[in-house]
Amino acid sequence: MKILSKEVALPLAFYNRDTWLKVAFFAVCVFMAGFSLYFTDGLVNKLEEREKQQIELYAETIRYVMTSDENADINFFFERIKKINENNTIPVIWKDGSGHLNSINIAMPDAIDIEQKQVLLQAKLKEIIAENNKPIEMDMGFQKEYIYYGNSKLLKLLRYYPLSQLLVVLIIGFLGYIFFSYSRRAEQNRVWVGLAKETAHQLGTPLSSLTAWVEILRNEPSINPEIVVELGKDIQRLETITTRFSNIGSTPILKEEDLEELISSFINYLKIRISTKVYIEIKSSLVPGQLANVNKYLFEWVIENICKNAVDAMSGTGDMLIYLHEGKNNQLFIDISDTGKGIIPANMSKIFNPGYSTKKRGWGLGLTLAKRIVENYHEGKLTLKSTEINKGSTFRISLPKPLNKDV
Ligand SMILES: Nc1ncnc2c1ncn2[C@@H]1O[C@H](COP(=O)(O)OP(=O)(O)OP(=O)(O)O)[C@@H](O)[C@H]1O
Ligand SMILES: [Mg+2]
Repeated sequence: MKILSKEVALPLAFYNRDTWLKVAFFAVCVFMAGFSLYFTDGLVNKLEEREKQQIELYAETIRYVMTSDENADINFFFERIKKINENNTIPVIWKDGSGHLNSINIAMPDAIDIEQKQVLLQAKLKEIIAENNKPIEMDMGFQKEYIYYGNSKLLKLLRYYPLSQLLVVLIIGFLGYIFFSYSRRAEQNRVWVGLAKETAHQLGTPLSSLTAWVEILRNEPSINPEIVVELGKDIQRLETITTRFSNIGSTPILKEEDLEELISSFINYLKIRISTKVYIEIKSSLVPGQLANVNKYLFEWVIENICKNAVDAMSGTGDMLIYLHEGKNNQLFIDISDTGKGIIPANMSKIFNPGYSTKKRGWGLGLTLAKRIVENYHEGKLTLKSTEINKGSTFRISLPKPLNKDV
C-alpha cells in the first residue's frame, strides 16, 4: 500500500491543528482582555478610594479651620490644604453656607469677575455631580456645608484604559483571524494541488502499462477487435482524467479557444454518456469564432461537473439550455440552465463548500472544483445565477473576453 506523499499529508495534519490553534488563540485573547479588565478595575477602585480619602481629609481640614477659635494656627492648616492639593488634579467645589462656590483644580479664564466665575462654577458643579461621587458633608455646627469633587485626570484615563486595551485585543484578534484564514486557504491550496499531483502520478504508471497491453491485444487474432476498440476508448478517458489532474496540480497553460466550438464538441461527447431523456440545447449570441483563454481539459471538467449536476437535479429527465452571450465590461457568459428540482434558499450559500452534497453518492466536490478552476485559473467567476424550487436552476460562468489584438 502506498501512503500519501509528505506534501499532502502535512497540510492534512495542519487542518486538525488549525482548529486547535484558533481555539487557543481565541482563549488567549479572551484571557488577556479579562485579565486586563480585572486588573484595571482593581486599580480604579483603589485610586477612587484614595481620592475620596484625600477629599475627606481636605473637608476635615476646612471644617476645622472654619470652626476653630481665633488662637488656632490657621496658617498650618492652609499649608496642609495646599499639600493635599499638590500633585493631584481632582476638581473640587466647596459650597459654603451662603451658597457661594469656591473651587480647586478648576481652570478659569483670567479676566472674569466674581459673578461670572460663579456662573461658570455652577455649570462645572453640574458636571461634577454627574460624575456620581457622593458629596462630603461638613458639619459646621450651626449649618451643614458640602464639598463636591470629580475624578482626577488619572482616574478618568484609567477608566478608559480597559476600553483601549480591549480595542488592541480586538485588533490583534482580527489580524489573527485574517492570518489564520489566509494560512488555511494557502494550506487548502496545497492540499488540492498535492492531491491532484499525487492522483495524476499514481494513475500514470498503470495507464502506460495498460496502453502497452492493449497494443499487444490489438495484434492478437483470437481477440474480438471491438473489445480492443472499447478498451482503447476507456484508456483515452483515463488519459483525459490524468491530464485534468496533472493540469490542476501545476500551473495550467491557457490557450485561446473558440468557445462555442469547444463547448459544442464537449457536449456532443457528453450527450452519449448521459440519459437519453435529457435534451441539451446550445444557443449563442456571441460573434462566430469568439475566442476565450481557457485550459481545454480543465474547462471541459467544469462543464462536465455543472452538466452532471443538472442531470442529477432533473433525475435524468428534462431540458438543459447552454446559452453563450456577452455581458457588460467585456465578460463572456456561459449560462447553464436546467429544469430540475432547484435549490432551497438555505442551501444556496452551501453548494460551493467542499464536502457539501445532498446526494447519496456525492462527494460534494464537483462545484468546489469547478469554482476553483474558473476563479483561480481562468480569472473568471462561477455563480448560481438563479434557482426556483421545482422549476430549475441556472449556473453562470463568466470569463474575461480576450483583448482584441488588432486594436
Ligand atoms: N443544478 C442543480 N440543481 C439543484 N441542486 C444542485 C445543482 N447543482 C448542484 N446542486 C446541489 O449542490 C450540491 C453540491 O454539488 P457538487 O457538484 O459540489 O457535489 P455533488 O454533485 O453532490 O457531488 P460530486 O462531488 O460527485 O459532484 C449537490 O449535492 C446539490 O444538492
Ligand atoms: Mg456534482
